[in-house]
Amino acid sequence: MDISTFSKKNDLVLTADEIALCEKGIKFMRNSLDRHHEETHIFRMLDTFLILEREYMSVDHAVTVLSICWHDVWKSRRIFIPKKVRFMFDQVFEGIGSAIIFFKNSKGISLRKRFKSAIAILLHVRLDVVLPRSLRKIYAALFLSQEARLLQDLDALESCNLEFLENFKKVYTPRFKKYPEFLDIWNDYYYKGFRNMKETVFYSKSAKRIFRDQIDKFQTEAEQYLKGVGE
Ligand SMILES: [Fe+2]
Repeated sequence: MDISTFSKKNDLVLTADEIALCEKGIKFMRNSLDRHHEETHIFRMLDTFLILEREYMSVDHAVTVLSICWHDVWKSRRIFIPKKVRFMFDQVFEGIGSAIIFFKNSKGISLRKRFKSAIAILLHVRLDVVLPRSLRKIYAALFLSQEARLLQDLDALESCNLEFLENFKKVYTPRFKKYPEFLDIWNDYYYKGFRNMKETVFYSKSAKRIFRDQIDKFQTEAEQYLKGVGE
């Protein structure tokens, strides 16, 4: 489905220029060098947006759909390098990188929407999860618009989505076989970081509910995979 059909079907308010810009973001993802982060990741997020929408009634549709379509364009241009320093750099820099690429490509739409979308994209990286919960609440109150919170909820749900995991296996299995040390990086990332993810990282009740529904099955499958692929 294209963005024009998706927005008409779901009564989303986007101008022709905004739809064209969303399509441009999707094109980046369709041609993504990072085949784990490609257009199916974006379209699943758009579908999940329709589920969370009721709790995000005040969001600007254009800002939301634009930030979903463009949030991973930085990753789409990165060639694979099996080094920890590169892995860590990309984790930190991807929000800034995608926001810059979006801003350069978005001259045809209003400046207010460009800024709002770019900031949501910039802040979709969850560096705040290292903070205590009380500080995270202050950070969110100070910096996160409704669109930015929605994008965070959607992307965090993807990180424990089974289809996303299946795609991860397809892309990463040959890499882990070729570079066993790269599997150590992912084991660390999963067991020291991701596995501690709690429903408190989500802002909306619907996202917390979806997380609760999928996390046990996701963890079982992810852990079976990480153990099996290294043998
Ligand atoms: Fe993403």
